[in-house]
Amino acid sequence: MPLIPVSGRDHTWAALTPATAYVFGVETGEETRVVQRYWGPRPPVAALCQLTGLPPGGITTGFLDPADAGELLPVDGGRRWGVPSLQAVYPGGVRSVELHFEEAVRGENELDLVLRDHDYGLRVGLHMRVFDDCDVIERWVSLTNESGQAVRLRRADSGSWVIPEQAGFRYTGVAGGWARETHPHHGELPIGETTFTSRTGTTSHKANPWIMIGDATETTGRVWSVALAWSGSWRLTAQRRPEGDVTVSAGFGHEGLSWPLAPGATLRTPPALGLHTDGGHGAASRAWHDYARRHVLPTPAEERPVLYNSWEATWFDVTEEGQLDLARRAAALGVELFVVDDGWFGRRTDDTRGLGDWWPDPDRFPRGLGRLFAGVRELGMLAGLWVEPEMVNPDSDLYRKHPDWVLHYPERRRDTMRNQLVLNFARDDVRAWALGWLDHLVREYDLAYLKWDMNRSFSQAGWAEGGDLLWIEHTRGVYAIMDELRRRHPRLRIESCSGGGGRIDFGVLRRTDQVWTSDNTDARDRQPIQQGFSYLYPASAMSCWVTDSPNPITGREVPLRYRFHVAMAGTLGIGGDLTRWSAEELEEARRLVAGYKAVRPVIQHGVLHRLDGTPGSTASAVQYTLGDRVVVLAYNPYTPDRRPPRRLRLAGLDPDAVYEDADGARLHGATLMHHGLVLPTWHHAGGDYRSEMVVLRRT
Ligand code: DGJ
Repeated sequence: MPLIPVSGRDHTWAALTPATAYVFGVETGEETRVVQRYWGPRPPVAALCQLTGLPPGGITTGFLDPADAGELLPVDGGRRWGVPSLQAVYPGGVRSVELHFEEAVRGENELDLVLRDHDYGLRVGLHMRVFDDCDVIERWVSLTNESGQAVRLRRADSGSWVIPEQAGFRYTGVAGGWARETHPHHGELPIGETTFTSRTGTTSHKANPWIMIGDATETTGRVWSVALAWSGSWRLTAQRRPEGDVTVSAGFGHEGLSWPLAPGATLRTPPALGLHTDGGHGAASRAWHDYARRHVLPTPAEERPVLYNSWEATWFDVTEEGQLDLARRAAALGVELFVVDDGWFGRRTDDTRGLGDWWPDPDRFPRGLGRLFAGVRELGMLAGLWVEPEMVNPDSDLYRKHPDWVLHYPERRRDTMRNQLVLNFARDDVRAWALGWLDHLVREYDLAYLKWDMNRSFSQAGWAEGGDLLWIEHTRGVYAIMDELRRRHPRLRIESCSGGGGRIDFGVLRRTDQVWTSDNTDARDRQPIQQGFSYLYPASAMSCWVTDSPNPITGREVPLRYRFHVAMAGTLGIGGDLTRWSAEELEEARRLVAGYKAVRPVIQHGVLHRLDGTPGSTASAVQYTLGDRVVVLAYNPYTPDRRPPRRLRLAGLDPDAVYEDADGARLHGATLMHHGLVLPTWHHAGGDYRSEMVVLRRT
């Protein structure tokens, strides 16, 4: 049983996962504190009671209460001065929350602790869920106003996690911006509060809601990770106190927002996820991928099809004949899913108009999209379509009819970005409208795939009925429509996109099958983006396209083979203008697509090892292992200096087993892991942008 009471200790429990234990208990007194006692490798059950000591304290002074540490839900109230996970303002401006323990309700894999602030009728539920098959612990909070007066919440995080003492408290995260998302960054947490946040209304390109902490390398050391499964604005604060301890509090919303909790209302936070692993950042990533496959992704066992997307080939110049021409060329390469991108609807001849008018452009598609998609299916491919449901151009029939449907304050400007405004998906009428036309499109054209885009941040985000609640309810509205579409159309698959990788997280991945990683399709720029993506999210969810050279965004020229090998590291797609590819390029592409399909299960479902190097800057390689099969993608963007060639050491193999490559050469796992391979790609001679795929099979 994974959630057990710790014997000999009152109100103390251990959440046991296959490899870890998370021990916590309720301290009662003048108020209740729920305190984390231990989070680390799983000890024998008999030893659990030895892990229940209070966190190291100190002497009480006029400035310090040693009990102010280690709580699962530190509140703004009482003798506490750290980062609060819960800040509530009661009637009369009272800001001190005082919780009292009421009961613990324990199920097989879940535990709910019920706490109450009696004076003001606030019921607080601390919820925890663990799994028998992975080490991730899910925690969330529910807040119910049982009083007759409104309560205002200034911070309602999903909980706080305590990171046990380390030598240096090194952290790893990702950061970036549009066209340079998810670049890994590492550092030592400074004393103070380090906040990673999104104020955009989406997960954002600039940061991603997770952190790893631990004095670890890629292959060694213990790592404590915290992630938030949420696709709207969020905030994750790591606090390193001068006293020495580190906590991480994560939740939805950002600084400055506050939410009314009406009498009788309940607010439930998204899950915050905690994971302890040993074996460096690589092992942490593999554990996250495992969790994603077992408990997050809706269709983890499927192989994601090779897709073609028309965006970089046609931009807004979308016509039936043009798309069919591309479809014929794509099918000849072995593409399995053809996605028509932006420009098929309304009067959408550029980005100034049309969003909101979700019917085929009568000039370009006088007979609708039926003939185009019939043609796509005749070519043996599935049909997919781009949509951007949350957006409207002021120059659209929808906006002319419903100017009040957008986020706005009546007295303030409505700033456009990319000429568009954000529809308020917190509104019932807006959601009903969106579900109506999306359902109709999927049904009418028998769509297998929607690319759900979202191309601007929130601004002037007013909602007369719900105020700041829109920052939560908009995201929930998006989730609800995706969920309902999937319910009505079980064969429909969805790609999450937000101007590239602006909406990548474990919240959206519960209802989408893959995400568009970045608008930057330059293979070299893409490598660090893909590496950062891989810290949390599995390769099957990472959409990658091979596009043209020179790249339309960066102007960089990269050989087709290198572009393919980079895009083959996730779910392969093609996004180039195939009408301009030479016969030789098309033939090479056909061979590479076939090569990808032959190893696709290994790449999409395999165990990932980031082997070596700095992707995009130096020679690097990534390895996937599934059962007896091993695939290595190796890259070298530059001709290196005249050093002896480095060997590439593989990982995670059986040292005693013999592995055979495509030419019949045989090497022991021990040789491959400890001595390594000499790769032509990594050799010092041969020019820039060399890459190769090595396929091995255990004999
Ligand atoms: C942004 C996406 O990331 C692109 O792939 C493309 O779909 C454009 N939007 C279309 O407007």
